[in-house]
Amino acid sequence: MLRFLCALLLAASALSHLDEAFLDGQWEQWKVEHGREYNGLDEEGIRRAIWEKNTLMIEAHNQEAALGIHSYEMGMNHLGDMTSEEMVEKMTGLQLPLNLERSFTMALDDKVSKIPKSVDYRKKGMVTPVKNQGSCGSCWAFSSAGALEGQMAKTTGQLVDLSPQNLVDCVTENDGCGGGYMTNAFKYVQENGGLDSEEAYPYAGEDQSCRYNSSGMAAECKGYKEIPVGDEHALAVALFKVGPVSVGIDASQGTFQFYQRGIYYDRNCNKDDVNHAVLAVGYGVNPKGRKFWIVKNSWGESWGKNGYILMARNRDNLCGIANLASYPVV
Ligand SMILES: *[C@@H]1O[C@H](CO)[C@@H](O)[C@H](O)[C@H]1NC(C)=O
Repeated sequence: MLRFLCALLLAASALSHLDEAFLDGQWEQWKVEHGREYNGLDEEGIRRAIWEKNTLMIEAHNQEAALGIHSYEMGMNHLGDMTSEEMVEKMTGLQLPLNLERSFTMALDDKVSKIPKSVDYRKKGMVTPVKNQGSCGSCWAFSSAGALEGQMAKTTGQLVDLSPQNLVDCVTENDGCGGGYMTNAFKYVQENGGLDSEEAYPYAGEDQSCRYNSSGMAAECKGYKEIPVGDEHALAVALFKVGPVSVGIDASQGTFQFYQRGIYYDRNCNKDDVNHAVLAVGYGVNPKGRKFWIVKNSWGESWGKNGYILMARNRDNLCGIANLASYPVV
């Protein structure tokens, strides 16, 4: 407790260099960097206040991180003028079906106890570049396209960007930019007989009518498997044995919004409020023995660590990462 109090005091004093003039300069710079223009001074005032609150939160967190209180650092980014509530509303989009029936079809004897210390499919040519979903609740489409990209690369040896827009427009069981669920996307690709490439069916970031054309097809799907709810070991086994896995997480914390490096852990992250779909592309352990998941987000490369986040692994299913995990069978 004493250590914590001291840290807070230190953090508070370190923040004193952030006076108004300094913040004014930083704000102007941030607006230019991210091409922001606002409708009048009222709107700008509101955005500036949110940005300032975020800036101070980041600074305070990093002071504490420097003292070893946190395992990760935060940083200002293109989401700086948004509250975490706005972020969840605009930039997530994981929506559970009303009649969610999970089948846990991952065979239990697949749950071998021996797995390697680390797995990273980025190094195996099974992960495409980080994308940006924009202000469309299409996280589920990026997550499922990413999982299919991994399986296609594994079976064909070729890594091809697949089309989330194809999924946004054509998966009728989902709600496009209004949100959706990954296994519905796998089911669509299976029933449709294919999914177009990003090149054939480029991302628009808004709902459009379905324009699937089999001449642009770059992936097929025979079905999907689900990981038993909350089973982090099973998730690790699936990653090791199969490839990248679609997962759902709670992304509603401000700490997530501004994550920059290190191993993310926020005890406020709610495993019962999974709202964002992302792609687990591996796992590992740092030199201090802290275990993590390697997670690909769809908020652009300037978010997080080049678009990725390392999330604490085997820490009571942080953010619900093992609650809604699935992968396609190709
Ligand atoms: C599908 O794509 C092919 C090749 O680009 C094109 O010739 C054809 O007209 C397209 N079909 C439809 C229905 O748009």
